[in-house]
Amino acid sequence: MMELNDSYGRTFKTLRVSLLSTCNLGCVYCTAGDPTINADKKTQTPAAVFLQQIEQLHQQLNLDTIRFTGGEPLLYRELVEVIAGAKKIGIPNIKITTNAFLLDRMAPLLKEAGLQSINVSLDAVEEEVFFRMTKRQQVQRVLQGIETALACGLEVKLNAVILKGMNDCQVLPLLRYAFKHNVAIRFLEVMAMGHLHQHAAEYLYTQNDILATIDKEYEFFKLLRKPGATANYWQTLEGKVFGIVANESEPFCHDCNRLRLDAQGNIYGCLSSNHPISISNVTKEQVLHSKLQQAMWQKQSTKFTGSELSMLHIGG
Ligand code: GTP
Ligand code: 5AD
Repeated sequence: MMELNDSYGRTFKTLRVSLLSTCNLGCVYCTAGDPTINADKKTQTPAAVFLQQIEQLHQQLNLDTIRFTGGEPLLYRELVEVIAGAKKIGIPNIKITTNAFLLDRMAPLLKEAGLQSINVSLDAVEEEVFFRMTKRQQVQRVLQGIETALACGLEVKLNAVILKGMNDCQVLPLLRYAFKHNVAIRFLEVMAMGHLHQHAAEYLYTQNDILATIDKEYEFFKLLRKPGATANYWQTLEGKVFGIVANESEPFCHDCNRLRLDAQGNIYGCLSSNHPISISNVTKEQVLHSKLQQAMWQKQSTKFTGSELSMLHIGG
């Protein structure tokens, strides 16, 4: 294994693989509710191609974690195969980030394939607000997916992006839902991505806003942050924990350990990078190492600087 240079001493330990850029929800911050953005319905990159690239990267980086994202990873037809393959390659932690719309049926199969943990994007528990945020009905399907996943023994964490004036009324209902079902929850500050690139500030509901809302109902204290974590965590006096991913208020680039791979065989060292680095035809170890070094130099020093790409394309 060759060392990568970085003035902050960062390494790549978590690989986020965007399996496809199709999604079955139209979340306002991601697609602006425009379903035509979901164009690549038919062609999907074969699992064998992903697995060959994942293995190459693992050989150089000795990865701890792989997280499959999208688009929506449950729309990827060979998801079970790609999870089982990553496990066979020897990656210790295998996780996905999903909207859980199709999770109810899939959860047992994913668990059996070797999946450990699921982050579920859930921005509302009330149907009307869920529709406002996602342009889809049936929040109940998502809730059922979460409960089935928990019953299968999968770890589940909820991710709720909070937009001012849109779903800030859901902070407490989401928290109550999470506490009742004993599922971890994190609130996310909106990031300046995709069509919100220049406008995110209008919707920003900050870490302090979220804490002030929770303070109306609970007393809590801050926990120590784990290195490389996206979230800060707090604990209520009853022992319940919640987190906040505060990209704006408390950025965490300085110890970021993530590398991204997309469905076209490109790597990116940072969520804010629009400059793909292709590893598609790379066979030599030395060449891959220099591509990884380029990706490392894409990392920001302190703060996420925004991107014209939406999560749909780069996978959160
Ligand atoms: P855990 O392993 O559960 O900590 O996952 P995670 O928080 O890394 O991933 P998840 O997919 O649940 O994303 C949660 C939030 O963190 C989203 O708003 C992401 O956009 C944000 N996030 C994920 N990776 C990065 C990153 O590399 N940089 C920045 N600035 N934010 C990120
Ligand atoms: N800002 C913050 N979080 C976002 N996500 C998608 N788009 C944004 C954004 N603009 C969240 C999704 C998912 C995670 C990968 O990122 O809801 O939970």
